[in-house]
Amino acid sequence: MSVRILASSGLAGSALAELGARFPELRLEAFRSAAWSAALVEVEALALLLSEPLTEEDLERAPRLKVIGTYSVGTNHLPLAACARRGIRVVNTPGVLTDATADLALALLLAATRRVAEGETLLRSGAWQGWAPDQLLGTGLAGKGCGILGAGAIGKAFGKRVWALGMRPRFWDRDGRGGEVDFGPATAPRRPLDELLAESAVLSLHCPLTEATAGLLDRSHLERLPRGAVLINTARGGIVDEAAAIALLHTGHLGAAGLDVYEGEPALRKDWLAAPRAVLLPHLGSATVETRESMARLLCDGIAEVLGGESAGTE
Ligand code: DGY
Repeated sequence: MSVRILASSGLAGSALAELGARFPELRLEAFRSAAWSAALVEVEALALLLSEPLTEEDLERAPRLKVIGTYSVGTNHLPLAACARRGIRVVNTPGVLTDATADLALALLLAATRRVAEGETLLRSGAWQGWAPDQLLGTGLAGKGCGILGAGAIGKAFGKRVWALGMRPRFWDRDGRGGEVDFGPATAPRRPLDELLAESAVLSLHCPLTEATAGLLDRSHLERLPRGAVLINTARGGIVDEAAAIALLHTGHLGAAGLDVYEGEPALRKDWLAAPRAVLLPHLGSATVETRESMARLLCDGIAEVLGGESAGTE
């Protein structure tokens, strides 16, 4: 059977099955399996996960490819320049994971500052002796500055959440613009990076990983944060110098960290596991049933549109 659409994984909900009903030449093969590689020569559409980096060589082996759908908002795992040169459309999933990701960043912030994981570990260990005046004291957030890297939809949604906690959000934008950011309930200033860092008791990353943001936060940047600052990353590990962040957790310059993403994940650095006051999650930013179903719908509709069919969910 010929293959028009090659998906590397099942997706949440029914969108992929509906796409397959409309385009019977859809095949499911594991990424980089022999069958997946062999099918490249005839495919017109690829559906991929963010953990599946596609190369320019893959594109060269897929002469009929018209569209790549990624089950993510991030596109840093795709050879975007080569796609543009070939006129291959890239479909991602913006918009539908904004709230889920901002919620998870907030969960990490509260878990890191209120020592949720340590508290649970203490309780489960059976060693808890009861309430004590100095037990597992955390850090309050109201009135403190919250630096948000990225003034897109997720950055603004996170701003709304920390504003509700009484924090003072301020933003930094990749394009270096100034002016105010309207994040819904209020506006907040955009700041140059150095100024933003100096006034951020919490720094949360909400920008894509691109050439401009890779390694953006090096050790000297992290050292500009006030002592005890909290680093939250639900964007991409490659934006921050992880070795520096770990070293600064050990010195206490970073008061805590809440991370959902890692450079080279899932093979995260071993020293993350020994880093003090770090809450570590396995890339769960978009992991709600509703969000994953919406992402699948967006991805499948995008592929259907390029291949000339109707959308996968609107028969
Ligand atoms: C994405 O879709 O790029 C996010 O990282 C998922 O959590």
